[in-house]
Amino acid sequence: MRVLVVDDEVRNAELTALELRDAGHETEFVNGGAAALRRLEAAGFDAVVTDLRMAPPDGLALLAEVKRRWPATTVVLMTAYASLDTARRALKLGAYDYVDKEGEFREELGAILGKAARERHLASENLRLAHTVDSLTRDLTTIVGAAPSMARALELAGKVAATDSTVLLRGESGTGKDLFARAIHFSSRRAGGPWVKVNCGALPEALLESELFGHERGAFTGAVRQKPGRFEDAAKGTLFLDEIGELPLLLQVKLLQVIEEKTFTRVGGNQPLTVDVRILAATNRDLEAMVRERQFRDDLFFRLNVFPITVPPLRERPGDVRPLAGFFLRRHGASEDKLTARALQALERHPFPGNVRELEYALERAMILAGSDPIDVEHLGFAGASEGATRGATAAPGWVPEIPPEGLSLEVLERELILQALERARGNKSQAARLLGLTRRTLYSRMERHGLRKPGEGDEPAEGEGDAPAGAGEERA
Ligand SMILES: Nc1ncnc2c1ncn2[C@@H]1O[C@H](COP(=O)(O)OP(=O)(O)OP(=O)(O)O)[C@@H](O)[C@H]1O
Ligand SMILES: [Mg+2]
Repeated sequence: MRVLVVDDEVRNAELTALELRDAGHETEFVNGGAAALRRLEAAGFDAVVTDLRMAPPDGLALLAEVKRRWPATTVVLMTAYASLDTARRALKLGAYDYVDKEGEFREELGAILGKAARERHLASENLRLAHTVDSLTRDLTTIVGAAPSMARALELAGKVAATDSTVLLRGESGTGKDLFARAIHFSSRRAGGPWVKVNCGALPEALLESELFGHERGAFTGAVRQKPGRFEDAAKGTLFLDEIGELPLLLQVKLLQVIEEKTFTRVGGNQPLTVDVRILAATNRDLEAMVRERQFRDDLFFRLNVFPITVPPLRERPGDVRPLAGFFLRRHGASEDKLTARALQALERHPFPGNVRELEYALERAMILAGSDPIDVEHLGFAGASEGATRGATAAPGWVPEIPPEGLSLEVLERELILQALERARGNKSQAARLLGLTRRTLYSRMERHGLRKPGEGDEPAEGEGDAPAGAGEERA
């Protein structure tokens, strides 16, 4: 450690510094508290060893100042007149320890600093480990998204993570259900325990049963030895049952029993085993409909659906497209400005039936196609990307704005959109009407309603008259 020794008896300061240097520390010494502060300002020290009684600032004042300005610094006091009272005050002010200036006190100092050094090392090691784990889990579970519906889902996930409650993640394919499940596990008390994922749709019934619950030796042909199942693997951790809608009815019964009674038996066994497992499940299926059609047991459904979290589809949160694109580009060593403005716009208009996964793959492919060039519309390759920018306003909307939690006024929104259209069309009403999929006449009447035009105000010269969208002709009087 780098140690600064402070005493106005310079001889003691020097001898102490020498002895601590022999003990393996890097030492300096100064005469008095004022000099100590100047030296501390100029250079960093891990520890300060100071005499108590000095001309002001004395040892206690120096201690207080060091703790205020460099709180991580270890401070040890030396005192010729040990009084329990000053010792107590020193410890309260944050001193690491103190020694009586008598006998072999320098050896004792060496031992104290050695212990402090080991503790500091441990603390920094722990901090480093904590950082590694933190960034590891963060990496596994970075959930990008700021749309209100996403924020709500994240808030729910955050709240339920700390509990042992079963959670059902719902949402279309590719929305991030896996990611949410991981995030819940890795921010729960079970984060240090196992994370086990089973895809209920990937195995035929008999294999799935033995996969989940294990089997005893001889349970079936080929069961040459006993094998624990995934429930046992997940003990003290989390078991993520993906595609829970695919779970066969017989296994639904067995699952319900584990959730309710925490017990199950291995295939071919009759001894009930107890496990401590938290269950998370996910599905993109309409479980309510499956319950109605008797493909999914209602008791299991109610048990799983105690805490549902729905991850919203990407097309309902177009504002998340840009940050997500940036995230995926950075993950491949590119930056967000690798996307041209046109490409970004096309992405924001795309309906993304495959959700975030589709966006991720589209960008990966585009990066390869674009090489060192910027990613432009033609690299995106999904149908409609290039015509998206010019698609007629009468087409089905690629996105709908999301209603914020506090609600919105359709009137205000309509007025805003009309103003935007007028602005974009530089006041050209026919063009603005086209942008909104309206006839000029309808635009006029809506403008009147919103106080953007006086009733009966004369029509402009017939610029663009007659090229209102086809099919809207019946609106013309
Ligand atoms: N909000 C997000 N932030 C960052 N990456 C995301 C986000 N949502 C999804 N992804 C990424 O998109 C891909 C698909 O997500 P995930 O596998 O979690 O979807 P899913 O809902 O489980 O889909 P499926 O129903 O098909 O299993 C993953 O690579 C995931 O990392
Ligand atoms: Mg998934």
